[in-house]
Amino acid sequence: MEGLVMKTCEGPVNIAVIKYWGKRNDELILPMNDSLSVTLHVDHLRSRTTIACSPVFKEDEFWLNGKPFPINERMRTCIEEAKKHISEEKKELSKYKLRICSENNFATAAGLASSAAGFACLVYCLAQVYGIDEKVVDLTILARRGSGSACRSIYGGFVWWQKGTSDDGHDSKAVQVASEARWPELRAVILVVSHKQKDVSSKDGMKRSRETSQLLHFRSKQIVQQRIESMIKAINAKDFDAFAEITMKESNQFHAVALDTFPPCFYMNDVSRNVIDLVNKYNAYKVDMGSSTRYSAAYTFDAGPNACIYLQDKDLSEFLSIIVSSFPSIEKEYVRGLPVEVVSSSVDIFP
Ligand code: DP6
Repeated sequence: MEGLVMKTCEGPVNIAVIKYWGKRNDELILPMNDSLSVTLHVDHLRSRTTIACSPVFKEDEFWLNGKPFPINERMRTCIEEAKKHISEEKKELSKYKLRICSENNFATAAGLASSAAGFACLVYCLAQVYGIDEKVVDLTILARRGSGSACRSIYGGFVWWQKGTSDDGHDSKAVQVASEARWPELRAVILVVSHKQKDVSSKDGMKRSRETSQLLHFRSKQIVQQRIESMIKAINAKDFDAFAEITMKESNQFHAVALDTFPPCFYMNDVSRNVIDLVNKYNAYKVDMGSSTRYSAAYTFDAGPNACIYLQDKDLSEFLSIIVSSFPSIEKEYVRGLPVEVVSSSVDIFP
């Protein structure tokens, strides 16, 4: 096809250890507090997007996982913002319509950071199509306009989203704290408790939390910044005890905020709580067995029931065998009708 430009890109998910929850500006997606995450670079947790651009296309079109969808407002913003930075030699392309085809190879909107991977991928792909100079334009700022957490998926390794102080959001961006090479022994295990879409989206949940949860306001003013500093120290020192304790406390506090929201948001289910119990028991067992660290595994949950367990390579096979031997109880839950499809998949965070 004459004049056709086409690019395909892949975007990774990221799982926050310091949680983003609550916006100070909904339209620009400016967060109330900083957050920090680990990017999981694995084949079976990624978003893939192909963008085609041609003078013969009559309108912009979008397919997600093989089905056509209207281009939503946030996608439209990313496209329009990207066009503002189009390179001189590609200027002509800004008049052409786009066909965007995305697929996630994991649960969409089930608390597995699908929007993060999806928007990071979309923005990266737009940048390729439009010849955007990454040295001049911060792609994390563009990705943030699609979904806040997406700004952290632009980088690998350990990524810090700085909330910024400006009203226009030019300083609300993500930076890499350390690359994956900093801590190659770190692993993540994802426990897919449910593929069901969450009842309350992150967007709606965090708006409701901002309007009703005093805990959220306290946390974002008094707690998060200190935790960010401690977490960066923990990562640089590869201090798993500190990393694990902050990660679990953050997850707990985020879900406490969800409960403090009125009406409350319930993101975890009984199986999620069983997973927390199991991690606590595993940590206690390891101490009994003479482990020199207080923690050997750390759980974290986003806005859904699926668990992410961080641990170190040396404990991975043992932990997985414990998970597998816990399957009977999980299957019983399934029999009782909970939407459980527990799959434990060991993820090499940094292949
Ligand atoms: C619980 O980035 O999905 O996963 O900015 O409205 O698109 P929007 O929200 P989103 O929220 C993610 C929230 C979280 C915590 C986190 O990833 O930091």
